Amino acid sequence: MAFLSCNPNVFVVGGDYQLVVMCEELGICTLCVGGEVFYDTVDGILKTQRCHKFVLPQSVLDEAKGYSLTFAPLIEKKSYWSTHGEEQTVSFSFRPIEKTEEIHAIYLADIHDMYDKALTPARYFGEELDLLIMNGDFGELNREEDFVRLLSFLGTVTRGEIPLIFGRGNHDTRGKMSENLTEYIGTEHGKTYFDFTVGPLSGFILDCGEDKPDAHEVYGGFNCFEVFRHQELCFLKSLKPAPRPYFFAICHVPFMYSGAMTGEFAIMPELYREWGRCVDALNPDFMICGHMHKHSRLVPNDERSLFPHGYPVAIASAWKSVEGETLPRLSFSAITWHKDETEISYIDEDASVIETFSYPTRRALR
Ligand SMILES: [Fe+2]
Repeated sequence: MAFLSCNPNVFVVGGDYQLVVMCEELGICTLCVGGEVFYDTVDGILKTQRCHKFVLPQSVLDEAKGYSLTFAPLIEKKSYWSTHGEEQTVSFSFRPIEKTEEIHAIYLADIHDMYDKALTPARYFGEELDLLIMNGDFGELNREEDFVRLLSFLGTVTRGEIPLIFGRGNHDTRGKMSENLTEYIGTEHGKTYFDFTVGPLSGFILDCGEDKPDAHEVYGGFNCFEVFRHQELCFLKSLKPAPRPYFFAICHVPFMYSGAMTGEFAIMPELYREWGRCVDALNPDFMICGHMHKHSRLVPNDERSLFPHGYPVAIASAWKSVEGETLPRLSFSAITWHKDETEISYIDEDASVIETFSYPTRRALR
């Protein structure tokens, strides 16, 4: 792993994988899967940045069950006779989701830079972990090192060997490097909202952007999320998810929940109602959210909801303050897709189970 800053990460976007590689220095990197070479290129020019991204159909990596990365450090890029150092290659195995049930995922959100606190719960399923879901508010972005820490954490959990679904939270839009986040994660042509399929799972991930109006003084006029949310509504209106046995939605902010959309956070109520109509028409088995730092569950058409929804909502990450300690105790969720229901367990920082509940698979409605 000499040239890598951390393990690679295999992001799921649509029906593709987007493999992100963070290197220790600038250079050329190529990916080889089953004898096929993939390039990180801008219209034929190989990129020479630290971070490289490769897009490939899931079927290619699922079949090969492994990949290798070759890196050559940049010596000098010039008009003629550019030079690079000696090539190094490193290989990883990959385990696609081939199961049809008993699929295990760990759901993390609201880590807010406290990565160490998420490692024990992330290991809840041990070697049986099939998928990592990271749903926003990992931290604010002011230095390149913030991306290295993010990718390093994700790569520690996935070891570069299993897929991961990644969504943005409101805090991840903050800081002078936040406009560069999409270079380091999987996106649909730069968009942080998209649908996905992986094994027998399909779904979509939404991004509310910031939680206060664009004109709020703390943003200083640097945001235009109101336009972004309208673009996302167009995406939702045209979304035709691939049919799979299990179908779910992910969104950092529970935009239907009166507890979230209150006071200065009660933004764009009509737009979010429209989002709600679209999501309801898609009939996910459930939506999983974060943001509140408190576990909550909304039943279908919950009395605390701002508009009707036929699917349940789990707010599945939490903080708890501990007397005498500066940092809170974090909790996340372990998810298992059984044949006809999805089981979710809230798990504490020490990986002990706090509470378990299940949602029926609503495939008859789709
Ligand atoms: Fe948040």
